[in-house]
Amino acid sequence: MPTATSGNIDSNFKGKDILSLNQFDQKSLQTLFNVTVEMADIAKNAKPSDILKGNIVTLMFYEPSSRTFGSFGAAIKQLGGQTIDILDPVHFSSVAKGETLEDTIRVFEAYCDAIVIRHPEVGAAKRAAEAADFVPILNAGDGIGEHPTQALLDLYTIYEKFGRLDGLTGVLTGDILNGRTVHSLILGLSLYKNNTMYVLSPKELRLKASDLAFYKKRGIKLIEIDSEEEIPPDANFWYWTRVQKERFKDLSEYEKVKHRFVLTTDLIKKKGNDGMILMHPLPRVGEIELSVDKDKRAVYLRTEVRNGMYIRMALIAMILGKI
Ligand code: NCD
Repeated sequence: MPTATSGNIDSNFKGKDILSLNQFDQKSLQTLFNVTVEMADIAKNAKPSDILKGNIVTLMFYEPSSRTFGSFGAAIKQLGGQTIDILDPVHFSSVAKGETLEDTIRVFEAYCDAIVIRHPEVGAAKRAAEAADFVPILNAGDGIGEHPTQALLDLYTIYEKFGRLDGLTGVLTGDILNGRTVHSLILGLSLYKNNTMYVLSPKELRLKASDLAFYKKRGIKLIEIDSEEEIPPDANFWYWTRVQKERFKDLSEYEKVKHRFVLTTDLIKKKGNDGMILMHPLPRVGEIELSVDKDKRAVYLRTEVRNGMYIRMALIAMILGKI
């Protein structure tokens, strides 16, 4: 009997795959956020927990990662669980011998209670979920598709600051075409009313017309802008992203656009406001000036990273039915 399922969360996380922000509704997000607050206390050692004692989670990363990999690993260990770490299976596992993704998943589900997967192909996490009969699959990034757990931590970070996820104005900057974190974030924000996102990217890196239409249909207002001049002065958050070098066939094209939009202290002075926050999924590679880090509004190397671990603690604990 299969015990892992995809589909809508409907506030019941137990046994569910986490593949897309599409599976969530407002209530499920609130349920997750409530548990995340408790997880922050556990991580700060205010009340240590070993609710994942005896649980093993496989972290299978076909693409480079230190942040997401480390965050999942820390989250599981904070709760007393253990991980099987498979980094770069293309070179260091049976995949190098030609094993299919499906077979790899079916082998590893025999060893563990959940599998976290990052893969360069869109839809790979879904394929993994279809192959797995017994354990839930968590998408840690499928090519230029989605990165749901990053969006969950981003939404939580915004929620923590503003106490709501509706009626917000944001600026999304960088590689909107290839940036999977942005795709998931837009899906998440579109679950709430009256959100307006100003989308600033090089022309070559804008959303595909079909995707733009798809997101707009979900009710979120997306306004594509051409320059920093058009950034509204009253935004609640700026979400800066890296141009995704690994998605370019021609690196000279990457060089042309990589630093088209750089977040500087000058720009913040010109277009920012006191109440806003500055976000970035990381890694940053030159698109945020280092001097911005000192700004109290810059949360990317502060709460945003920490919230990632708390959200993943909550998610794994709920999926494994421990909360
Ligand atoms: C992001 C990713 O992998 O999509 N990184 C991350 O998970 N923190 C963003 C990026 O690599 O630019």
